[in-house]
Amino acid sequence: MGNPGLFISFEGIDGSGKSTQARRLAERLRQSGHTVVLTREPGGSPGAEEIRRLVLEGDPDRWSAETEILLFTAARRDHLEKTIRPALARGEVVITDRFADSTRVYQGLTRGDLTEMVDRLHSLIIGQEPDLTVLIDMDPAQGLARAKGRSGPEQRFEDMGLAVQEQTRAGFLALAARDPARFAVIDGSGSEDEVAVRVEAAALARLAAR
Ligand code: ADP
Ligand code: TYD
Repeated sequence: MGNPGLFISFEGIDGSGKSTQARRLAERLRQSGHTVVLTREPGGSPGAEEIRRLVLEGDPDRWSAETEILLFTAARRDHLEKTIRPALARGEVVITDRFADSTRVYQGLTRGDLTEMVDRLHSLIIGQEPDLTVLIDMDPAQGLARAKGRSGPEQRFEDMGLAVQEQTRAGFLALAARDPARFAVIDGSGSEDEVAVRVEAAALARLAAR
């Protein structure tokens, strides 16, 4: 199979520090000689970035949960084809800021139970899981305050409010509990440096185990 690369995703509620920590882990791994592709969802390829605008901007009621499942999955398929699989085939490390667990939680749980639809579409269209998922766990009120501190038009999910953040946190923790071999749950409280030390320890342990 050649060198299969390493596929890492970051997950967590809005404002938990995923983007910050994904970037820092990418820098750390590059310093130790790895070739790293740092990417994000929704997006990560030109076509998927176009879909990103459709799902993140506008009225919170713009799309039903079912339509969103299709849009996020379409974006993910393009991201996989154009960015993730080619990099893994070159033996590189891919770090993505969100992946399929976000759809499982945001579309699968927050507006009624659509878990089965999400899971069936995932196995049909995506069929791939990260080698490691770093879940940055964080108090929802603190996460929302951090996320709201950012300005810009991509506020559709933040606008759904604190109750959704609480549901989302519980959803991510439940996924992690079901698959401890894939997930590392990291405490997101404290300074950026403190969280980065925790993330790095988890990721390096996983790299060493390969
Ligand atoms: P996410 O990608 O999970 O939404 P970000 O990494 O974008 O989170 O962080 C959200 C905001 O909080 C940003 O303004 C970022 O600078 C800030 N931030 C990130 N990590 C910390 C931290 N450990 N302590 C305080 N602020 C942080
Ligand atoms: P992101 O840009 O990661 O926002 P943040 O930095 O605030 O966490 O993601 C934007 C929003 O998209 C986020 O609120 C979660 C949502 N989302 C889904 O609902 N389903 C998905 O499959 C993905 C990838 C994201």
